[in-house]
Amino acid sequence: MRRNLFCSVAALAGFALFSHAVLCAQNSAPAAVPANALYKNSAVPVEKRVADLLSRMTLEEKATMLAGSGWMESAANERLGIPSIKMADGPMGVRSWAGSSAITNSGANPVKVLTTSFPSGVAMAATWDPELVESEGHAIGQEVKSLGRDMILGPTVNINRVPLWGRNFEGYGEDPYLSARLGVAYIRGVQGEGVIPSVKHFAANNEEFERHRIDANIDERTLHEIYLPAFKAAVQEANVWTVMSAYNKLNGTYCAENALLLTNILQKEFGFKGLVISDWGSTYSTAPTVNAGMDLEMPGGPPARAMITSQRSILSGNSGTWLERDKVLAEVKAGHINEATLDDNVGRILRVIFVSGIFDHPHTASGDVDTPAQQAVARRGATEGIVLLKNAGSLLPLDVAKIHSIAVIGPNAVVARTGGGGSSLVRPKYSISPLDGIQKRAGSGIQVSSALGVAMEGEDAAQDTPEVRARLLKEATDAAAKADVAVVVVGRYFKNESEGFDVKTMDLPAGQDNLIAAVEQANPHTVVVLNTGDPVTMSKWLDKAPALVDMWYGGQEGGTALASILFGDENPSGKLPVSLPKKFEDSPAAANYPGTNLKVNYAEGIYVGYRYYDTKNVEPQFPFGYGMSYTTFVYSDLKVAPEKNSGEQPIAVTVKVRNTGKRAGAEVVELYVHDGHAKIDRPVHELKGFSRVELKPGETKTVQFKLSRADLSYWSPEKKDWVADQGSFEIQMGASSRDIRLKAPLELAR
Ligand code: BGC
Repeated sequence: MRRNLFCSVAALAGFALFSHAVLCAQNSAPAAVPANALYKNSAVPVEKRVADLLSRMTLEEKATMLAGSGWMESAANERLGIPSIKMADGPMGVRSWAGSSAITNSGANPVKVLTTSFPSGVAMAATWDPELVESEGHAIGQEVKSLGRDMILGPTVNINRVPLWGRNFEGYGEDPYLSARLGVAYIRGVQGEGVIPSVKHFAANNEEFERHRIDANIDERTLHEIYLPAFKAAVQEANVWTVMSAYNKLNGTYCAENALLLTNILQKEFGFKGLVISDWGSTYSTAPTVNAGMDLEMPGGPPARAMITSQRSILSGNSGTWLERDKVLAEVKAGHINEATLDDNVGRILRVIFVSGIFDHPHTASGDVDTPAQQAVARRGATEGIVLLKNAGSLLPLDVAKIHSIAVIGPNAVVARTGGGGSSLVRPKYSISPLDGIQKRAGSGIQVSSALGVAMEGEDAAQDTPEVRARLLKEATDAAAKADVAVVVVGRYFKNESEGFDVKTMDLPAGQDNLIAAVEQANPHTVVVLNTGDPVTMSKWLDKAPALVDMWYGGQEGGTALASILFGDENPSGKLPVSLPKKFEDSPAAANYPGTNLKVNYAEGIYVGYRYYDTKNVEPQFPFGYGMSYTTFVYSDLKVAPEKNSGEQPIAVTVKVRNTGKRAGAEVVELYVHDGHAKIDRPVHELKGFSRVELKPGETKTVQFKLSRADLSYWSPEKKDWVADQGSFEIQMGASSRDIRLKAPLELAR
């Protein structure tokens, strides 16, 4: 009865005869599916399977596919045997899928999924080690499968534009090339396990301030050179299966319905064949969203309805349930979505289901996670990611022959602060705090004492009274004064550095600057350890700190990794994936953050991070690519061949690196391209290659790079393409963006 009414109303309303016929025909009982249907045969090419399956679906069935069925599940179709895609949050491990981070991060939630907590994205970026990131991708993929899930919501490749972004810890830093290399590696690892990654958040999600309403105003060149390359590489090099659209608007249009972004750039320019999934509650319309190429709205079903009616969502501007079946059908009926478009969207979902293998081999939960091998990857990441920023008088590595006591101090010393807050926070089975790690490594020969020094701002009101504060500080300085060495671990934690809001200030949380200064006063042998994702101001204590180490959020093995660096079991090899400015005002984005009237103008353009500091001669506290070592490396014999290049053949660059110190260690060699002649303004140099080389004492290795015309190019808004201007370039080989050791010319003949 309902169907007849629907059909006659449609006819009366004068809808196109074709779509009316299709709708009515599709509503009749679908033909039974034979057991040997083409799409069920895993030997048949994917595109044929997709076409066959699509041809058997009713319009209603197709429309049902566009919205999730729950918080972390896409819609299944029992009749046709289409499985639901079962998701879990990431990217730094597998996080509980039992609800939003507000639920799963709260202490009250009983459903905790315990998995390996890998180091934060920024820590992994500091390793400059794509192979290791690929292993991390594999390890996470294995855990996803072991838990009976199919998809991990990561990697995050958004660029660190503003030092205060609440999610800087999730991403791979400020440089598009480094982010691209590591994003590709992560995706390869995950997909190599037959697990679906989702590279996110497309695009320009660079601040949490009003993330549902903010409109990022970015020119075309800046988009192509800074904010899109990691996504492009994910599509073109890693063949990524899914992309997650961002909450924000880009140049006036929500990302989830932004045809320029999703159709023109992602599909046409990059050639993306996979599916676009929305961020949770980031859809704001039906037809424009479907037509732009946003294929799967998440969440869906009852959790989505509950989410959008919650006070929190209303206040923050979260929006969703726009791609529910009936809304989609109504728009098809109204002629605002045509069936070919719907087929394309659904076809993309089916393609991913086939290509990933979850149609033919569903993942069955074994529960086997946090294996020794996975823990080892987490430990390696945490270790390689630690950056030694200062080491006056070679205080580090600690000399166990001379040291009898260590005081481990600070709000991040006793508690393992494994990651920042929000949807990425993983619950590990165990975690090693800096104190645990140091105690274990020190053994019985060295006495280790500990003191809180100051409570973490906002964590425990009882410890935040003038009396308690004075007592804690005194305990810390007493402990420091009695010990041979003091290690002060400071930083933030998941409640004051998180998705959902930006960090208020670059200053350390209340009392921590004071604590460091007081400990330095009490003991000249003080090592300061930063355990945070965002840069912090250091002016109040840096001069007096002989040693400074950045351990970021190092995941569950952070404390072990820190101890291995402090005691010299491992040579520090991490390098900064982001410039650390002296103060927030020095940041190129400072004048245009968080925006006015919900518009943020990326007026600094391509001058993000070192592109700005190095070109405009603003001295950062520590530059991009910087990191010290316990050994020394000498670069020599930089060669570029052919030196005169037509731009068609590959450019081979080689350089020799020698370990001239007494310890084995790894050096990250960085290749920058300088273009002094372009027809357009360009930064003084851009990172276009890097390599992490392990060297024994006295050993020399030749490091090889391959460049192409693309590495010399800029995005020309005029030509709407990448352009390299004929003339002289310079290839620079550096140990940081401000420590260029060798230079060689390269001539582009045409
Ligand atoms: C975050 C995403 C996350 C999703 C699901 C959103 O709030 O922005 O990164 O994957 O929630 O938890």
